[in-house]
Amino acid sequence: MNILIIGTGYVGLATGIALALKSNKVYFFDKDKEKIKHLSSGQLFFYEPDLQSALEKAISNNRVYFFDMLDKVNEKVDAVFLCIGTPVLKNGKTDLKNIKQAVCDIKKYFGQDIVIAVKSTINPDVFEFIKREFNSNNFHIAVNPEFLREGNALKDTLNPSRIVIGTEDNYAKSMLNNIYRDFDAPKIFTDPISAILIKYASNTFLATKISFINEIANLSDNVGGDIDDIALGIGLDPRIGKDFLKAGIGFGGSCLPKDAKNVIHFSRSKNINLGIIKEAVLINDTQFLVVIEKLKENLGNLKGKVVAVLGLSFKGGTDDLRDSISIKLINELLREGIIVRAQDYLSYEKAKEILKGVFISNDVYMTAKGADAIVIATDWKEYPKADWKKIRNLMKGNLIIDGRNILDKENLKNLGFTYKGIGRK
Ligand code: UGA
Repeated sequence: MNILIIGTGYVGLATGIALALKSNKVYFFDKDKEKIKHLSSGQLFFYEPDLQSALEKAISNNRVYFFDMLDKVNEKVDAVFLCIGTPVLKNGKTDLKNIKQAVCDIKKYFGQDIVIAVKSTINPDVFEFIKREFNSNNFHIAVNPEFLREGNALKDTLNPSRIVIGTEDNYAKSMLNNIYRDFDAPKIFTDPISAILIKYASNTFLATKISFINEIANLSDNVGGDIDDIALGIGLDPRIGKDFLKAGIGFGGSCLPKDAKNVIHFSRSKNINLGIIKEAVLINDTQFLVVIEKLKENLGNLKGKVVAVLGLSFKGGTDDLRDSISIKLINELLREGIIVRAQDYLSYEKAKEILKGVFISNDVYMTAKGADAIVIATDWKEYPKADWKKIRNLMKGNLIIDGRNILDKENLKNLGFTYKGIGRK
């Protein structure tokens, strides 16, 4: 089948490359000429190792093609996957600029029995807009949300937990069923609005689960419990489940925070109050401040103290800094008059552009040098494996605040650290 992917971010590339691996011909379009130049030469412009190697393979097998102008795609296309970003404006509304442009281009260059599968996360009003714009028998609209995680983009796309196809159009339904025939996952056929709400409900449920465990962690800190045991104790109940119960300094990234805020805003315009989701966002907005409290409790006056922050990306295994809690935390530390040193394995160069007055490196040991305290802000797998004895000797103080609860606290205590986790005894 011939597939056109509009938008070459995580979702667009992972979807397109997964479909190319399933023997389709995939045409990628992005208006960003630089991105298309990179991709044509087999280079991703962000870090996703499996996707990088699969991209190279798809290019050498002549399965993928890249375009910065849609009129250059001279093939009959069976389906278009809309994978463009849907940023939220300051007033809380979705910025429709990119969607409008894509709709206009598709209508101009393609027109006969074509399926439009919307992968971008959109609210029902945006869907109504898209439906109105494609109001002709030639276009068959479906909502087909994506559930991949950054850092696992290709794996999640090739092995999805479920495939949601939201459409009232039989042609779109059978075409998408056919496109996904080789994917081993339950398929949910539903209407477009339910498909949209499945996506919002999934992300906001995950966000709520994290804020819930963070709230319990803060209680645990206060009364002397241990959040690891508590998470295990509740997570073994299959009705609750053990995933996404990792307490810490909060959730970030380009999806969970944005989707939660977007659905709250959209629902408010319909006079619906999403109290639980609002509270999950509020908890997350201030959760990182527990680090400041712990620093004050242990170091007293923070002015002029040196704090080494390990981790800048919004989570380990990615170079993505969007809505990273680490960046929020560093800005707060700077406001407190702290001298901040920071480290990340991948995003350290990018971070230099947004954090001024901070020493930034990719080296844990160099960053720890002379620090009164260390804060773990991102769950990089490398941190538990670091040489903590060496780090202890390089530091001026001995305080470590593990904002992601990933370090071996007993080992650190034996090395002479004062260890503070989030809700850990
Ligand atoms: C999230 C969802 O997990 C995906 O299913 C969804 O497809 C994606 O958004 C999207 O809408 O595109 P992602 O943003 O890649 O994926 O990141 P997550 O792995 O969900 O992590 C989000 C944040 O929550 C990170 O900052 C992470 O550190 C934090 N987190 C996660 C916790 O604090 N505790 C946990 O137990 C789990």
